[in-house]
Amino acid sequence: MLLTLHRDRKIMNQDALKKSAAEAALKEIPEDAIIGVGTGSTVNHFIDGLAQMRGRIAGAVSSSEASSKRLKALGIEVFDLNNVNDLPVYVDGADEITRHMHMIKGGGGALTREKIVAAVAKRFICIADTSKWVGRLGNFPLPVEVIPMSRSYVARELMKLGGQPALRSGFVTDNGNVILDVHHLDIMNPVELEGIINQIAGVVTCGLFARRAADVLFLADSSGIHRLLAER
Ligand code: 5RP
Repeated sequence: MLLTLHRDRKIMNQDALKKSAAEAALKEIPEDAIIGVGTGSTVNHFIDGLAQMRGRIAGAVSSSEASSKRLKALGIEVFDLNNVNDLPVYVDGADEITRHMHMIKGGGGALTREKIVAAVAKRFICIADTSKWVGRLGNFPLPVEVIPMSRSYVARELMKLGGQPALRSGFVTDNGNVILDVHHLDIMNPVELEGIINQIAGVVTCGLFARRAADVLFLADSSGIHRLLAER
């Protein structure tokens, strides 16, 4: 009983940190623009905050069916990316992020659409609680979205790179594909590894966001919000 209470309190604290990072990002959103919106529990706070500032933005391009549903339910118009030329900003969370603003993403399985929207956006604002801040990427298993027929081949290739891939059980992405979560990869050079994994036939994309890193990070810890820029 005591253990359960302790764990609940920890989850609540982490959620409060996610919310405060999301609220900090809201202050940097340009008025009347269409903005890119990511996926996950941190972004859900951001979407809820956007809804409270009704009319401040023209609408959103979303990185997942889940975020689209939440945006629409709160009265925010969701645009098809093909009909939008410019996105001044993209706001999303991360599973891990370094001082170079390199990230692992895709814990929620939305990595491919996230990478597409991030590629179009001028600025990538990452919002995260302090548990996501790491010295080196790779403790969090790297998600790789894979065309289903190539699953075994890609898994063998990932093992040659030193990883231990595990099929995400019972999960299909918004694009109809599967996810391999790759454990124990040695991610010395995230930019290089992102390219190598993305070249494997059958890989749609991997969850390394190093070639298109974040530009700004709002990191929430118990002392407050830190606004960090990339050390390049
Ligand atoms: C989803 C993602 C999320 O940004 C990442 O998993 C962080 O999620 P959360 O905000 O719930 O901790 O990449 O594909």
